[in-house]
Amino acid sequence: MLDLANGAKKRRAGGQVFGLWGDRMQLRNRIALMSGVALAFAGGTTAWHRSGAARAQATMPCDTATTPFCNSTVPLPATWAGRRFTLAQGYPATSPADVTPWTAFNPVSQPHQYIEAVLAYFYEGNIRPDVETSFDPTMNTVRGWYNAPWQDVGTNGREPAHGLTRERTSQPQELAPTQKQFWNNYAIGFYNAAGATAIGKMWANHGKPDPTQASNMPEGTVGAKLLFTTADDVEVPYLKGAPSWNVYIYKDVHNRFPKPTDARDKVAVRLLQIDIAVKDKNAPLGWVFGTFVYGGGPGGKPGSGWTNVAPVGLMWGNDPGYSGTGPLKESWINPAVKMPHLGYQGRLNGPVDNKISSCLSCHSTAESPEGQMTPPNGADPAPWFRNIPSGSAFDPGRIPLDYSLQLSVGLGSFNTAKAIQNTRDPAKRRLMMKRLEAIDRLPPRDGGTAR
Ligand code: HEC
Repeated sequence: MLDLANGAKKRRAGGQVFGLWGDRMQLRNRIALMSGVALAFAGGTTAWHRSGAARAQATMPCDTATTPFCNSTVPLPATWAGRRFTLAQGYPATSPADVTPWTAFNPVSQPHQYIEAVLAYFYEGNIRPDVETSFDPTMNTVRGWYNAPWQDVGTNGREPAHGLTRERTSQPQELAPTQKQFWNNYAIGFYNAAGATAIGKMWANHGKPDPTQASNMPEGTVGAKLLFTTADDVEVPYLKGAPSWNVYIYKDVHNRFPKPTDARDKVAVRLLQIDIAVKDKNAPLGWVFGTFVYGGGPGGKPGSGWTNVAPVGLMWGNDPGYSGTGPLKESWINPAVKMPHLGYQGRLNGPVDNKISSCLSCHSTAESPEGQMTPPNGADPAPWFRNIPSGSAFDPGRIPLDYSLQLSVGLGSFNTAKAIQNTRDPAKRRLMMKRLEAIDRLPPRDGGTAR
């Protein structure tokens, strides 16, 4: 086993030591940062410029064995006046006493009450009158929320204003019948303290993660994810009034296949979807997954603010062997919400998600080494719709990461970065990065190939 602390070739730039960052991609950017020169963009064409602000960002060593995890590796423009994302990485050693309001309900027989109780718990202390500072864990005085590390690399890595990662692109008519164009989507996930203890244990040594520490997340773990879209409320009318964040993302919001060197800009994104995942011993597999859509989806209720969302559904099993007709037994699909699509054979999925999958299907592949998230074209989909209990791996012989895809994806990125660092031949390194850029064409959430 190679340790980053020993394996990483340290580089000096302007007196700063840079461990090699998790660099699946941004080769030119990274080289630029390391030499104190930032890549800047003018009129859509790429140009090299010296930039004081970018240099300041770059002087923060991160993602090395001995430093904090990176917030984002994308420099903000010098003129940026908006938010700057800081990764919540003070993972607690033990979880403090906390309420668990969802345990008052049975997920199988009371799915609606259950999912609303989880959402209220996620909202508590996170919503404030200022939309831009809502869901900033440093301002939450009720309870801690934490972000998973190593989501910062590659074409789809965290942007620097709110820490959003690039997600699956929505195709025409997927969000609403009136949607005409492709629109990019972005998201950020959080774990409560119970979940964060497992992240902290797995990553106790930043240079040598131990996935077995996250093979069985603690009871009461809650994962929650805010998903935003670049789509406008002309094509997707139910987005009217949705909370909006200003982020620094690829300027061409219709491009399905951006490259890390593509121009970025300040873009307002709108809340589209909220995902929740709960580790709960009252659920048959130990996990419950559910999702909400802003404004109630097509034909939904006009309104505004974070709370104007409606549950699309909740699932506690994959209904293995379901023929495709008749009711699903292991999901609750809210009859009041009419989304243009759900998941495979009507299983639960969110507006942003790929309809060949489902929440529990895709998340059951969380393991190390990384599993294949969605059934490949032409393959029998049945293995992806098994009921895999919490603590078991999707593939024999792998280490389960207990339904946490952020941990699975993050660990994959770390391992890839390490492999690149340990390759001395520059031509070979470039080739590896090119290969990764090709893999990154599809964000993980779109079932992008495992690295
Ligand atoms: C095709 C794959 C796929 C599907 C389907 C999917 N997800 Fe995820 N999800 C991901 C990936 C990949 C991540 C981690 C990277 C990220 O955040 O984008 C993730 C992250 C999350 C997180 C943050 C915690 C974690 O486990 O990493 C939550 C919570 C979540 N998803 C809930 C849901 C819910 C609820 C659904 C169904 C409505 C769903 N997901 C459907 C791929 C998927």
